[in-house]
Amino acid sequence: AGGPLVDPQARRIRYLRVSLTDRCNYRCTYCMPEEGIDRIARADLLTLEEVATIVQVFAGLGVERVRLTGGEPTVRRGLVELVAALAAIPIDVVLTTNGARLAEMAAPLRRAGLRGLTVSLDSLDPGRFAAITRRGVLAEVLAGLDAARDAGFCNIKLNTVAIRGFNDHELGELALWAWERGHVPRFIEVMPMSAGRLYVPGELMPAAEIRERIAAAAKAPLESDSGEGVRGLGPATYWRVASGPHAGRRVGVIAPMTENFCASCNRLRLSAAGSLHNCLARDDAGDLRSVLRSAGPVALAARVRAILGFKQSGHTFALDGHGGPDKAMISIGG
Ligand code: GTP
Ligand code: 5AD
Ligand code: SF4
Repeated sequence: AGGPLVDPQARRIRYLRVSLTDRCNYRCTYCMPEEGIDRIARADLLTLEEVATIVQVFAGLGVERVRLTGGEPTVRRGLVELVAALAAIPIDVVLTTNGARLAEMAAPLRRAGLRGLTVSLDSLDPGRFAAITRRGVLAEVLAGLDAARDAGFCNIKLNTVAIRGFNDHELGELALWAWERGHVPRFIEVMPMSAGRLYVPGELMPAAEIRERIAAAAKAPLESDSGEGVRGLGPATYWRVASGPHAGRRVGVIAPMTENFCASCNRLRLSAAGSLHNCLARDDAGDLRSVLRSAGPVALAARVRAILGFKQSGHTFALDGHGGPDKAMISIGG
């Protein structure tokens, strides 16, 4: 009732990110504080039936795509069944994962109706990969990517957080590696979540510099390729190699810090505990779980609109690491 979801800045909400768990089998240094986070209690976790009910309400409000995140979504039991239930709503279901469990899960996820896959990959060097993830094994992710391709996933997006002094010298190699395998490389500016405690200003690689590195590896200039149909529903801008041996190859850049995209924000985030977050970068959120449990799904739409009424125009991340939220990336899933 009441037409599509529109926020106070007249931005239409078409995209819901759903965090299925605040647990992860990795401990990436930029995502989770060393001491951990306050974990969601089991009773506070939405059941997967409740998740499906909430997504159905959003679909009725015009949301076209749901991205499942975490923590790490593949550690949540019942994920494959949830994907099938969401795909039947119907709504576009996509997933962001660290890839550690894809070797076993890619084929079942594909059969359940998963439409797209994004895999985090910060380094092609096993030692460096282990250092940034603290728990990860590069070979498992590489096997997972092969399994995903064999299962029929096309244009798999690879997310690399670009970190100066850590993997900046590898960005070109990562792009060439992705292109060779038919994947779409994407590079992300590091964001100061967790009140900036995990953020080192000198580590930020501005998008313009990221593109220079990719152009150097491609031995050709990049041109903007962010038309409708290419850009998709997310904040990434896309660039294509203009000429040379890699002509036509594409690379995505997600640049919240130096090329703010909040004016075109189209998304909301649901935490694993059922709170609805208007912005990745702010701590205010409204609770949907209690409304669902006490009043049922019919009351949800009105509650969603009420929460959306508080959506701010954009983030306040500053280059020095101030201005971000207290919440950790792992608690909301990016
Ligand atoms: P698609 O465009 O649908 O492929 O997905 P996506 O780029 O939104 O999803 P993904 O989970 O791959 O996120 C990639 C990076 O973009 C992560 O670092 C996210 O934190 C970041 N990101 C996604 N959406 C937003 C957003 O609305 N604001 C900000 N600041 N960052 C975002
Ligand atoms: N800044 C930017 N991106 C981040 N991610 C996790 N933490 C951060 C951060 N502080 C990325 C992950 C994953 C995506 C969902 O978000 O690497 O690819
Ligand atoms: Fe939207 Fe907040 Fe992301 Fe900006 S930072 S694009 S307002 S969610």
